[in-house]
Amino acid sequence: MNDVPVIADLAAMSAWSEAARGQGERIALVPTMGALHAGHLSLLAEGRRRAHRVVLSIFVNPMQFGPQEDLAKYPRDLPGDLTRAASMGCDVAFVPEAASMYGPSFQTAIDVREVSRGLCGECRPGHFVGVATVVCKLFNIVRPHVALFGEKDFQQLAVIRRMGADLNLPVEIVGLPTVREPDGLAMSSRNAYLSPADRQRAGALLAGLSAAKALAEKGERRASVLLDAATTEIARRVDRIDYLEVRASDDLKPLQIIDRPAVMLVAAFVGGTRLIDNLRLG
Ligand code: PAJ
Repeated sequence: MNDVPVIADLAAMSAWSEAARGQGERIALVPTMGALHAGHLSLLAEGRRRAHRVVLSIFVNPMQFGPQEDLAKYPRDLPGDLTRAASMGCDVAFVPEAASMYGPSFQTAIDVREVSRGLCGECRPGHFVGVATVVCKLFNIVRPHVALFGEKDFQQLAVIRRMGADLNLPVEIVGLPTVREPDGLAMSSRNAYLSPADRQRAGALLAGLSAAKALAEKGERRASVLLDAATTEIARRVDRIDYLEVRASDDLKPLQIIDRPAVMLVAAFVGGTRLIDNLRLG
């Protein structure tokens, strides 16, 4: 099987989409930062089911990384990504250069105000402004009918849904469940940073979330009790909990009592690696 063809030029990408649209074809977009794993591939597979054409974008977006974050060492594997994407029936990879996405005069930013606050927005200032801005740019360049995102990044998905609704973006946003390793660890490009010992300890995140979910399923409605159960599991194995919270699944408002669909979200450091995960509480 041939690797997926690459388009780097923004105008060429738009022309490709224009031609497909001219044929009456539906276009799906899967935005990524590359280093593709089975989580990303599940998005491509769903794109394949929902559209005639599937575009994968690979762009390690400088605007969403803080100055102390891992932009320079973020895992990159373009040849491997193109082979993996081809195996999912992806039609084209859009791989722009940072200089063509952000020219010297670039100065616009999209701030999805409330949903971006707290959780990862608290620990990573400016992160969701970078995410929302680049995703909006990708939508405008690729002009997809449908775009697919993972629930692994639950707050990111909520931010993108809010942006789509608020700005009347003509794109259907689809969220898909987290794909996990056999032992339950949420797949992430950053798992590659974990030593074997840290990889074991990383299991604490899902163990904690699952303990809370089990209590919720037995009828416990107090977020504080659910958080205590999760904290007991997580805190003894990770180095530091960044946040552990119960929020409403749709608008991410904090919940004290679970009286509507809720999700527990966690971010924690294991060794030097920051991991995130979440689980719906029903
Ligand atoms: P990246 O971390 O590469 O993730 C790309 C997409 O894959 C996101 O929608 C993410 O939620 C999804 N994903 C990651 N791990 C997953 C898993 N284990 N199961 C299911 N889906 C998973 O998220 C980004 O890139 C960037 O912020 C981006 C949206 C591309 C904007 O730059």
